[in-house]
Amino acid sequence: MNITRIALAATLALALPLAAQAQQAKLKVGLMLPATGTFAALGTAIENGFRLYVTEQGGKLGGREIEFVKVDDESDPSKATDNVNKLIKRDNVDVVVGTVHSGVALAMARAVKESNTLLIVPNAGADAITGPLCAPNIVRSSFSNWQPGFATGVMAAQKGYKRAMTIYWNYAAGQESAKGFTEAFEKGGGKVIKDLSLPFPNVEFQALLTEIAAQKPDVVFAFFAGAGAAKFVKDYDAAGLRKTTPLIGSGFLTDGVLEAQGPSAQGLLTALHYADGLNTPRDTAFRNKYAVSYKLQPDVYAVQGYDAAQILAAGLNAVKGDMGKRDVMLSAMRKSNIDSPRGKYTLAAAGNPVQDFYIREAKGRENLMTGIAVKVLPDPGRGCNMR
Ligand code: PHB
Repeated sequence: MNITRIALAATLALALPLAAQAQQAKLKVGLMLPATGTFAALGTAIENGFRLYVTEQGGKLGGREIEFVKVDDESDPSKATDNVNKLIKRDNVDVVVGTVHSGVALAMARAVKESNTLLIVPNAGADAITGPLCAPNIVRSSFSNWQPGFATGVMAAQKGYKRAMTIYWNYAAGQESAKGFTEAFEKGGGKVIKDLSLPFPNVEFQALLTEIAAQKPDVVFAFFAGAGAAKFVKDYDAAGLRKTTPLIGSGFLTDGVLEAQGPSAQGLLTALHYADGLNTPRDTAFRNKYAVSYKLQPDVYAVQGYDAAQILAAGLNAVKGDMGKRDVMLSAMRKSNIDSPRGKYTLAAAGNPVQDFYIREAKGRENLMTGIAVKVLPDPGRGCNMR
């Protein structure tokens, strides 16, 4: 550009009303998700869901075209701060969407609190994100780890089980799910006799399965997800435990992996905020569009990605795409009533969905809804002190 053209551009920019300028610039969405490792398929489903909603809106949210910048976080907490700072500082994104793994998400929450960047969490349940780390610029379209654990504990107590063992990957998601499970199960008259764990993302389950066989509990609660969950459910069956000791879990144990688990998963009961067979017009429309777009059936991760885009849209629509009106935008996001495929929900003050938890039974390739474990379950939001 020569000097006259620069001057002309500057004059034009000044002449345009601010809102019009904002509408012209693309909105940069930083997607930080796992593209490799045990959670890779979960990352893909979240991205598919997010993109589907944007496509349904004609490629624009709040009048602004969306541009994506992507980082593979590898579900590796040790790389998380560097990875999220690539999006925040190098790419200058307007909003970060991510991620699946709680340990990675905790580092992301700390980074966005420092830079005051908007963060929408489309899966990772780390309780602290809507607890001690809660902030006006952080919301979640998924769950807190406590929630599905608690709902599964309610279900297990209702079934009349008395002695339970838990087994999980030893990091925030596993620990906090087991804690939620224990809280509800023991309130309902049961007792957790032992917690078993192994480091994420290990899948050498044999010694722990031998321990379960020796202890003979009434029921086993498991937290695993993705490829690790596929292997765990098959190993549990191969060890002969499926016939003697019922296995239950938060629904991540079977979501998106039923095909890989085959007969080993049939009949498995889980609790989650999404299920197959909801048969509502909203869910059916979503499922049909998702299947046509991606030649895949949606799962809970796809729904959470779709809803992350819906929450962002609620904020952007309120300010017609002008993110300069930050307080208005954040407040619209937090107050939005999300018309989700899972059912309508709102966000609690700490930024976490207040939602129903379904009981699901694995039948064929579906986690079919058979009942409700808990209706409108809020996360307690312990330790959240919003400025
Ligand atoms: C988590 O790390 O918070 C996490 C990962 C996978 C899931 C659920 C929670 O399916």
